[in-house]
Amino acid sequence: MEQLEIKGGHALKGSVRISGAKNAALPMLAATLLAQGMFRLRDVPSLEDVNTFIRLLEELGFTFDAGEDNQLAIDSSGLSSHEAPYELVRMMRASVLVLGPLVARLGKARVALPGGCAIGARPIDFHLKGLELMGAKLTLKEGYVDARARRLSGARIYFDIPSVTATENLMMAACLANGKTVLENAAREPEVVALGQMLQEMGANIRGLGTETVVIEGVRELKPVDWKIIPDRIEAGTYLMAVGAAGGQLILENVVPSHLEAIIGKLREAGLSIDVLDETTVKVRKRGRLKSVDVKTLPYPGFPTDLQAQIMVLMANAGGLSVITETIFENRFMHVAELRRLGADIRVEGRSAIVRGVPSLTGAPVMATDLRASACLVLAGLAAKGKTTVAGLNHLNRGYERMDEKLREAGARIRYVTA
Ligand code: UD1
Repeated sequence: MEQLEIKGGHALKGSVRISGAKNAALPMLAATLLAQGMFRLRDVPSLEDVNTFIRLLEELGFTFDAGEDNQLAIDSSGLSSHEAPYELVRMMRASVLVLGPLVARLGKARVALPGGCAIGARPIDFHLKGLELMGAKLTLKEGYVDARARRLSGARIYFDIPSVTATENLMMAACLANGKTVLENAAREPEVVALGQMLQEMGANIRGLGTETVVIEGVRELKPVDWKIIPDRIEAGTYLMAVGAAGGQLILENVVPSHLEAIIGKLREAGLSIDVLDETTVKVRKRGRLKSVDVKTLPYPGFPTDLQAQIMVLMANAGGLSVITETIFENRFMHVAELRRLGADIRVEGRSAIVRGVPSLTGAPVMATDLRASACLVLAGLAAKGKTTVAGLNHLNRGYERMDEKLREAGARIRYVTA
């Protein structure tokens, strides 16, 4: 079994290029189901989740050609199946993003229900209700949802909670529906906006991107496009926090500073020095011990749940008491028990973790339980004295491109070892 071995206490220095965003790449791959022909996506991160999505589209009849510099040529003209099998959906919940586009394009889809995952129940009821409101007939049988509609019709859909993938799924479906769809209380994440912009370039008629109300007027047909994926704000946030954990300074290239406002604000409050150098570059420096701050995860533009585990590492080592409240997923504190193994003082009470900063963490073997928890444990390894080994790396490789290499180039002592 491969593990990452980290020798902590070495300050970072140099620069890191942030990859294209996983959570933008996946819905954009799904969007290629909506038009026939050759697409090109640029800055596609080389990640397990992206490979899983590619395999899923291959099952549906697509062909792919990977070029230099993370480019991907996608031929959607062989689309011949409408089924997303359980083996793939089980590996990655975001596979459910094919549901809306398949019904819109072929009039039918059969998609496995994802079931639970390490960070909570994560239902897909919003996706299903939305499609029903658009006139699809749904049947649940043998663990699959079967959706049929001759042509979807526009509808007014209200989300109880803003959901990222439900907004994306229904926005894609609505592009080819008959008439107007209004998505109320829609997600405003930059990845949703980026998908909407790609759909507009494909010929879709969408208004209100980045606001709570997204309005889509359906069109008969969309066309393939050549499109660049936005930088990964969660990866960028993770490297900002890597400096908070290890000390030193880093320049992050290929970022969109406006996507990082809540994150930069919180980290500055904790005492990190962060300068926006230009519209794609930020510089981060640590000077002395960080201060404890309270954190509450919220939908965008609030502090992202996908960085909750990582900021907990900084608070575990900061001067004072911090309350970290998780409002998005009910079971996203699996990393707490692992951080305690390194000497962190953390108590979970309901949806909050109460973190009392300790002067130093000490290395130990730990086990990653989900994607962001694995990044949190790598950061903890950078902060801790001595040696930390992180197992369960399949999670890390789902969402972080070459994290070990990027950190090593910045001076971290991190390498793969076989247990
Ligand atoms: C997306 C991201 C994930 C991130 C999450 C929250 C992708 C591929 N994944 O996941 O990295 O952690 O947003 O920012 O973009 N909910 C329901 N019913 C539904 C759908 C969602 O109750 O049908 C609830 C969820 O349980 C959760 C909340 O809505 O409490 C928000 O989840 P959602 O935005 O849907 O997360 P994902 O889109 O799955």
